[in-house]
Amino acid sequence: MPTRDRRPAAALYYATRDGQSRRIAEHISRRLAESGVPSQPQDLRVTSPAAAELASASVIVLVAAVRYGKHLPEADRFLSAYRSLASPPPLALASVNLTARKPAKTTATGNAYLRKVIARHRLAPALAVAIAGRLDYRRYGWRDRQIIRFIMWMTGGPTDPETNIEYTSWPAVDEFAGRIAGLQNQN
Ligand SMILES: Cc1cc2nc3c(=O)[nH]c(=O)nc-3n(C[C@H](O)[C@H](O)[C@H](O)COP(=O)(O)O)c2cc1C
Repeated sequence: MPTRDRRPAAALYYATRDGQSRRIAEHISRRLAESGVPSQPQDLRVTSPAAAELASASVIVLVAAVRYGKHLPEADRFLSAYRSLASPPPLALASVNLTARKPAKTTATGNAYLRKVIARHRLAPALAVAIAGRLDYRRYGWRDRQIIRFIMWMTGGPTDPETNIEYTSWPAVDEFAGRIAGLQNQN
């Protein structure tokens, strides 16, 4: 359905455990508001939107964190619901993970998590990006900390257990939000 049939309002959802995807969703929401596109970021662990709510949005935005190689389960369920819509609004998808700290791994072709989730749900997102998250070893339990330190060691990242680094590129988030706002005027 062309977006001109819908009032410009983004349906903005996030899936998070440690809060970085929520912060990214809130940042996107502020930027969209500046472009005249209202949105209310919603936590998919608390809310599972009805099909009618999704269908009436002019664009759907999902910001979803990766844990142990997969997007969080509520994000997966959300994408299944989106996929079952008869006439889905355009989808803007942001995968939040640590491999995206490397610039070559911020696109749907370069980022394996993003590429796989698109393929598994047979999506055709209008926009798809991978955004780097946060590494904060002190937040993690002992087992998670050791495993993530090992992954970081394998991929040339920091292994000091005191490390707390926000890798998120806020200019990249701004650019993503700008492109979402631009989708409103395309159809
Ligand atoms: C238990 C755990 C597992 C993770 N697994 C991965 C992973 O497989 N690949 C990756 O790139 N990042 C991984 N990360 C990094 C997270 O994606 C990153 O910390 C992100 O900011 C988390 O988003 P959130 O704060 O919204 O939960 C993992 C983090 C944790 C705590």
